[in-house]
This record gives sequence, structure tokens and C-alpha cells, in this order.
Amino acid sequence: MSGETPSEGSGRRREERAQPSAERVRSRARPETMSMGEKLMRRCDELAELSSDPDRLTRVYLSLEHARANELVSRWMVDAGMRTWCDAAGNQCGRIEGDRPGLPAVILASHVDTVPGAGKYDGMLGVVLAIEVVARLRTSGRPLPFAVEVVAFGDEEGTRFGAALLGSRAVAGTWDDEWWALRDADGISLADAFAGFGLDPGRVGEAARLPGELVAYLEAHIEQGPRLETADRALGVVSAIAGARRFVIDVVGEARHAGGTPYERRRDALVAASEVVVAIERLARDGAGIATVGHLSVEPGAVNVVPGRVEFSLDIRAESDDERDTLWAAIQATTAEVGHRRDVGFTSTQTHAAEAVRCADWLRDVVTAGIREAGDADPLVLFSPAGHDAMAMASVTDVGMLFVRCRDGISHHPDEEVRADDAAAAADALEAAVLALADQL
Ligand code: GLV
Ligand code: MN
Ligand code: MN
Repeated sequence: MSGETPSEGSGRRREERAQPSAERVRSRARPETMSMGEKLMRRCDELAELSSDPDRLTRVYLSLEHARANELVSRWMVDAGMRTWCDAAGNQCGRIEGDRPGLPAVILASHVDTVPGAGKYDGMLGVVLAIEVVARLRTSGRPLPFAVEVVAFGDEEGTRFGAALLGSRAVAGTWDDEWWALRDADGISLADAFAGFGLDPGRVGEAARLPGELVAYLEAHIEQGPRLETADRALGVVSAIAGARRFVIDVVGEARHAGGTPYERRRDALVAASEVVVAIERLARDGAGIATVGHLSVEPGAVNVVPGRVEFSLDIRAESDDERDTLWAAIQATTAEVGHRRDVGFTSTQTHAAEAVRCADWLRDVVTAGIREAGDADPLVLFSPAGHDAMAMASVTDVGMLFVRCRDGISHHPDEEVRADDAAAAADALEAAVLALADQL
């Protein structure tokens, strides 16, 4: 295989070195006095301090906090012996060479953006584990038949612009120019946010990797569900990732006086939306997919006015794209029926779509081998209803994923919790998986 190495002066990526450490991000304990698990936890704690919200963790794509997270991650990468750069989409990258320079790379990655009010481990644990594994591989001195790269993707959640997986889609070469017009809640376009981050929207294509540059993609991530904990396992092998679609649904009725408007004259957008929200849960429970309305806003939002307009979000996932699309068709039939009966208009705008993705068999095998090496002779195989950067990367290379137990399956919440010994086991398993992968080539 021939590969292209990111090189100085190529214009392909902005090379950088970690900045001198800021007090804000300095480790407060000496790493050599910490156990491996504690070191990994501490790094997640440090990343969690970089929030736009003083009371909870929120860090969105191309924000000041994203830049600070990149700076911190870059410093860890440099400490692990990596050459670092920020790519043309704002993803923080690092690389060590294999047994000769310029070989195709195994990418170890996850994301550093968060949902509003996030926990400390969704995405971040995978980045921290990847850097730790590279540090170990480098100090072991064992020659590898590939380079190893770590990527801290800047957008997986889609919190800021609605469209998700923007960082990994840039790297996978599946960027969609229609996204430039997307705006955040403050009206800032994605193109302006790029410029504000010091990126040139016209060069986003330079973040894309070619299949020949890559050997495989591996991602470690918290499970975000309770199955590992229920089975009393620290780690699991991911078989496949759910397909997803997200929409914004606009409901238009008529705002009128809450006292003077008889019921038969009302076109109440909130009651219509509420009927649909309840039906969405029923349709999903009765069918094969999962559907969630996570955000809803009401206009004019006054105590004495019949709601004239509602906007709500819809997130649909399913193990197969057919199941996902069947559920969406049933939801659309419901909006049509409720809209007709209540004389309100429903219009939907799709903001995100991702196909269901199977993890490659050979990478399931290397992840299984890694988990066995970490002490679990018969690793649990899990399907992922949550979305991951691996979904985007599957369009450019084979992907594999390792899941790590999280307490009570809680995620997308400040109570997200991972055991330090599980994190240490995940580092062992991910390192062993990379070595198993090397043995396969
Ligand atoms: C990502 O966390 C998702 O929404 O699945
Ligand atoms: Mn998430
Ligand atoms: Mn995630």
C-alpha cells in the first residue's frame, strides 16, 4: 500500500506544536504518582474544565473552548511523541511513524465536542485512551507495519449546527457544501465559524483522507447504555452502529386570545405537536427503532395566548436503515393526520442522516483479541444505538469499536461515570488490539 504522510510545507494541514502549558490546564497531580486509571480519569477531568458554561460542561464545535481542548490534547500528543497538526476542519491530529516513514495509518480517534450539560467521558475517554496507547506503543519500541494517528474530532454531536459528525465527515471526504449555510443559535453561519477559528472554508477538502492512506479506524467509547454493567463486564466489542436521521419539525397554527377563542376555532400548535410527540413514542415502542423529541419551543410563549407555532426536534435511530425509514414514514403519516384534523401545518427539515454501519469482521476480531488480552476470555458483543465518528469514517476505511462500561448506562448527562480500573483495562485492550492488527498484516 502506498500512503501519503502529512508533511511540513505541503499546505495540507497546519502544523503546530503544543503551546506552553497554561495554568488552567496544568495537571495538578504528578502523573508518576498516579495509577494508569487515575491518569486517564484526570485527563478527562482536565478536558471537562474547558466549558462555555460555568455550571455544566458544554463545548461546541469551533468555539473558544474547542480551541483550548485542541491545545490541551495537542500537548498530550506531543508528550506521547507525536507530531501534531490541526486539520482543515479543526480536528486535532497527531501521528507517529511506523517502521519506516510515510506508511498508511491506523487511526485511533473519538471526539472532544459535547452535548449541552454533558458528562466527562462521551468522546473524551476515547481520545485520552488513544493518546495513551500511542505513548505505550512508542516507548515499547516495537516496530509497526503502519503509522498510528490519533484524531480528536471537533464535532460529533451536532450540538452547534444541527448536522452531526462534521469533523469526521471532513476527514472521510464526505463534506457537504450545503452545510456552509447552517447557522447556530446566535445566527453565526458554519462558514463564519470556520473563519473565526482561523480556518479557511475553501480548504475544508484538505482534511479528507484517501483510502490508500489508511489501514483501519478504531474507536474506544463509553457504552452509553447499561448492557455491559448488567452483564458485569468492563469492555465489549461493537458489532454495528445504528442508522440515524434527525429533523426539525415546524408546526404552524394560529395564536389567539386564550380566553376569547372557543375550542372549535382554535388551531393550537402546541396541542397538535403534543399529540404527535406522544404518537412518536408509541410508534417507536411498537416498531423496531428508537425516536426521541429532545427539544421543543413554543411561540409566542405567553400564558394567555393559544400557541401559534411550535418547533421541535426529532431523533430517529434503528439497527437498519429500512427500520429507521419505516419509522419516519409512520411518523409522517401521523403528522399528516393530526395536521388535517387540527388544521395546523407540519413541515419537516432533515438536519442529519447517517447510514447504519457494520464494524468490519477483521476489526471485530482484533478488538476481541484486545479485550481477551485485557482479561475477559469471552467478550460481549454489542450493537450501538448511539452514533459515533466511526459511522462517518466507515466510508473511507474499515472501522472497529471497543465499548467501555459506564455506571448505570448514564450518558449525555453530568452524572456520566466511568471506573478508573475500566479505563485502564480499555487502554490495555486498545493497545493489544493495535498489536493484534499489526499481526494480521
Ligand atoms: C451521539 O452521541 C448520538 O447522539 O448518538
Ligand atoms: Mn454523545
Ligand atoms: Mn460520543
